[in-house]
Amino acid sequence: MNKKRNINDMNRRQFLQTSAEFAATAMFLSLGSAQSFAAASAGAQENPIPSVTLNNGLQMPRLGLGTMTLNGSVGERCVADAISLGYRLIDTAMIYGNEVAVGAGIRQSGIKREELFIASKLWKADMGYENAKKGFQTSIDKLKVDYLDLYLIHRPSGDVEGSWKAMEELYHGGKIKAIGVSNFEPAQLDDLIANNEVKPAIHQIETHAFYQEGKAYDYLKQHGVQMEAWAPFAEGRHELFTNATLAAIARKHNKTVAQVSLRWHYQRGIIAIPRSSQKAHIAENLNIFDFNLEDSDMASISTLDLNTTQFPEWS
Ligand SMILES: NC(=O)c1ccc[n+]([C@@H]2O[C@H](COP(=O)([O-])OP(=O)(O)OC[C@H]3O[C@@H](n4cnc5c(N)ncnc54)[C@H](OP(=O)(O)O)[C@@H]3O)[C@@H](O)[C@H]2O)c1
Repeated sequence: MNKKRNINDMNRRQFLQTSAEFAATAMFLSLGSAQSFAAASAGAQENPIPSVTLNNGLQMPRLGLGTMTLNGSVGERCVADAISLGYRLIDTAMIYGNEVAVGAGIRQSGIKREELFIASKLWKADMGYENAKKGFQTSIDKLKVDYLDLYLIHRPSGDVEGSWKAMEELYHGGKIKAIGVSNFEPAQLDDLIANNEVKPAIHQIETHAFYQEGKAYDYLKQHGVQMEAWAPFAEGRHELFTNATLAAIARKHNKTVAQVSLRWHYQRGIIAIPRSSQKAHIAENLNIFDFNLEDSDMASISTLDLNTTQFPEWS
């Protein structure tokens, strides 16, 4: 526990240093499964989304919809649109204040609950054993669902140990199909894994062309924890959507920069949850399964890495 408190003070730089020993040379993850998550559902999607098998055996779609800032009727419409287009993974969080809207969008879609993969997150203010249980219950009540497919500790703050114990119990009780973390340092993950029964299935971290998280990538692969990218487009920061390198690759494949960006995540074996408020973009972001980035494309994109967060305000 004391160790954890110390570790909580570590910064991202230490994260990278600590994990350096695990650096590997492999460019692509060999994922356990490339099955279609939604293949069984009734013909809604033109591009069935492949899934990955998490370390507890659960199948998770490799592409989903991010919903931060998609609130109220906009959020409801975007979630319903995304599901109608073939998305099955929806990422929300208590702190986004949109779980009611996300739940409404899910119901509006008409797709059965068991065909969806719904993820939410425990916020800092709800950390600790009792609070985490209440926080979880509030989230599923707002979403109007009986269980979550994935529940993450949003940030490593406060009583991580007590929160994880609560999440383990909810997991064993069938209320959560997989539990994981977000924005943790590797040493914090080491601690969580060493001192608890259930290993995180997912680590959701900022990852995009300008912050490629190579060392975290190697670390997570080494530890069998699936990496998931938040802000897969860096929210367009650093002019990602007009980047010359990405634009040239996009032209070559007759795709958009957004599609190249998502395909890059996909070929690295990283789950991405792009957010969009526009149905055309939501559809565009799904259309990444009919082309391949070549080794030379992947190498060009690797040169874009600035190896630093594009969201310093959140550090
Ligand atoms: N765990 C965490 O701490 C954490 C932190 C941040 C985010 N997240 C999760 O990750 C999700 C994604 O990250 P994000 O929302 O920060 O940003 P993002 O997905 O990197 O970028 C969203 C931006 O990209 C634009 N966009 C989307 N598709 C596009 C396309 N095809 N062409 C051009 N522009 C496009 C959107 O504009 P339009 O609406 O106009 O399409 C929006 O401005 C979040 O929604 C949230 O679920 C988690």
